Amino acid sequence: MKFANKKKAQSAIQILARLLILPFSCLLLISFFLLCNCLGNTSSQKEIEKPIDMTYSMGYNIAQLEDSEENELIRYGYELFQNTSKYIGPGNDKKNNVYAGNNLSCNNCHLWSGTKAYAAPLVGIIKRFPQFRGRENKIGTIEERVNGCMERSMNGKIIPPDGKEMSGLLAYMSWLSRDIPEGGKVFGQGFVKINIPDRAVNLDKGKTVFEARCIVCHGEEGKGVLSNDGYSYEYPPLWGEDSYNDGAGMTRVITSARFIKGNMPYGATYENPILTDEEAYDVAGFINSQKRPTKRNRERDFPDLKKKPVSTPYPPFADTFSIRQHQFGPFLPIMEYYKSEYNIVKSK
Ligand code: HEC
Ligand code: HEC
Repeated sequence: MKFANKKKAQSAIQILARLLILPFSCLLLISFFLLCNCLGNTSSQKEIEKPIDMTYSMGYNIAQLEDSEENELIRYGYELFQNTSKYIGPGNDKKNNVYAGNNLSCNNCHLWSGTKAYAAPLVGIIKRFPQFRGRENKIGTIEERVNGCMERSMNGKIIPPDGKEMSGLLAYMSWLSRDIPEGGKVFGQGFVKINIPDRAVNLDKGKTVFEARCIVCHGEEGKGVLSNDGYSYEYPPLWGEDSYNDGAGMTRVITSARFIKGNMPYGATYENPILTDEEAYDVAGFINSQKRPTKRNRERDFPDLKKKPVSTPYPPFADTFSIRQHQFGPFLPIMEYYKSEYNIVKSK
């Protein structure tokens, strides 16, 4: 009996142990996974520097704005951003309101109304200014930055800082920046990085890419296609009289290749690019080898020449590389020169 009891007691312990072993090992497994997950997350967060994916997580639906005087100004800024030529372009109704020299819209380069990641988005922009600007070698205001695009990308003249147009644009950008923390750093700022080929642009290959991938929308002569209203563009021009001028950021092959990589052909995104880095590089060189308006006084840009991006296609330079090399590369030797001569690391 005793023996039997002992056996019973033993098997009871065994049963209990068996019963416990399952939940216990489950717990262990779960905590192990949780731990791994945490560790995994922190390391990937470090890599991409705390992403704030403004493009998808915030609402930018202008139609949802209630009616108020303040929102009216935001709406006007948005309108101006989307249909710039209608309000301040060379052919607009009010002759005393012509500031842009071409019929592009801000939205043609700052895609999705300035909210697309890696299309120089303007989300957070208000909080990134004032900031140091190499082109002027001084602290610049947001008004000056907008006017930088006015004088170059829009081939026009400055918008008065105290007028309705500038107030509208700033109201719209403030609205885009409303939930972004101080400093304005956001995921997707600027353009996507590419591996810059260690060779000059191949213009023939660039032409081939243009013909295969761009001509359908941007047209035979890169002239673009006008919309029905007769002045704004369905597909904006890539060169010629109505394009950005030769002092614009987009004329720098590296900047333009990075824009193209993340955004063109239309439909490409940084996550799903269509062109290889080499194709983007060659086609950027090709479109920028074509004729476009001239920016006056370009030689005054970058008073401290060492701060000039290496692919700025116009002199003077703080180095002895040829103008052609600054236009079409190879850029890596120029970057290496600045590193060894001045200890300046350049990425564009
Ligand atoms: C032809 C293309 C193009 C057009 C059109 C254009 N921009 Fe830009 N814009 C750029 C590029 C390229 C940059 C970044 C330049 C650089 O990398 O230095 C930029 C930068 C900016 C910045 C600074 C962004 C930042 O993250 O620091 C602001 C603000 C801006 N543009 C406003 C405007 C406004 C407002 C308009 C319309 C009036 C406009 N842009 C039209 C190409 C364009
Ligand atoms: C399916 C049509 C389409 C194709 C194909 C296409 N684009 Fe575009 N592209 C656009 C549109 C539309 C815009 C203006 C974006 C907006 O307003 O939303 C644009 C804007 C641009 C801009 C900035 C504005 C300007 O006029 O300078 C550049 C540069 C550009 N495209 C280059 C290219 C290149 C290079 C290719 C070929 C690799 C290409 N695009 C292929 C439709 C297209």
